[in-house]
Amino acid sequence: MRWFVAALLAMVIAALCYLNFPGASRGLVSFYRQGSLVSQRRIAELSATTPSQIVVVQDPHEQARKISYEGFAVDELLARIFDKTDLGQFPFVTLICSDGYRVVVERASMGGGEALLAFKRADQREFSIINHLANPQAPHLQQLAPLYLIWRQGAASTAQLWPYQIISLDLVEHNEESASIPHPTFAATGEVKQGYELFRRNCLGCHGGGEGEVPTVRQLAARLHEKGFVWFQSWVQDPQASKPEAKMPAIKLSIADINAIIRYLKSSSF
Ligand code: HEC
Repeated sequence: MRWFVAALLAMVIAALCYLNFPGASRGLVSFYRQGSLVSQRRIAELSATTPSQIVVVQDPHEQARKISYEGFAVDELLARIFDKTDLGQFPFVTLICSDGYRVVVERASMGGGEALLAFKRADQREFSIINHLANPQAPHLQQLAPLYLIWRQGAASTAQLWPYQIISLDLVEHNEESASIPHPTFAATGEVKQGYELFRRNCLGCHGGGEGEVPTVRQLAARLHEKGFVWFQSWVQDPQASKPEAKMPAIKLSIADINAIIRYLKSSSF
């Protein structure tokens, strides 16, 4: 009986998480210029104006397995949304995912069709992958819609640069600066603020500066995205269980508090 209640609870939580995020299930993509909304388009609308390509890539989420996707070359897509002056003025683009994860990429590195925004798989499968990175012992099915950033062979192999469920793209001027401004896509909820407080009290002392081996806040957010929340929860409660030589002490926090920190790391712009 108890397992049944636990399973039911897990389903309710999963459903709530899913419903909580704007645009997650609607397939609508928003385009911003320095945080101001320029346009919102559905994938079908983008397909009508931008030619798509089919490419085979080595997907780092699936242990470099070759998968074929259909997508838009990033530079071609942006050229249809923004005018030339904007593109000249803003050399970076922030990709924002439905869970709040974001990554800032220099546009020049994506030029010439190096990077594509995939909107479906080209092998008749549903638009998902088996993510091996979040929890290597238990790879899980990961939905990718509306957009998934993929790179041609050799261009970018770290999963950090392969964000999925991208719901917004924001043309920005600088890399670091723009990353520290909260993005209008996400209004800070109470839980995010609480997560920030918990992080400040329990973690920032060591993780604030990123000295030596200690990862910075930004690196923690990236690791969370890469390895998933189950790994994160168990790391915080017992780092030595994940890595015997870890220097970080176990932090006595409830799962609810750790989840608030996770929310904060996911929603904030680092
Ligand atoms: C006393 C210092 C200290 C405190 C406090 C601390 N950490 Fe750490 N943390 C570290 C160090 C050092 C590492 C690098 C790995 C190691 O040797 O432990 C680390 C690593 C991590 C990692 C793993 C990164 C990876 O890539 O494997 C996570 C996640 C993490 N910390 C989260 C937290 C969170 C969340 C808190 C607060 C609840 C916190 N830490 C508090 C020192 C600290």
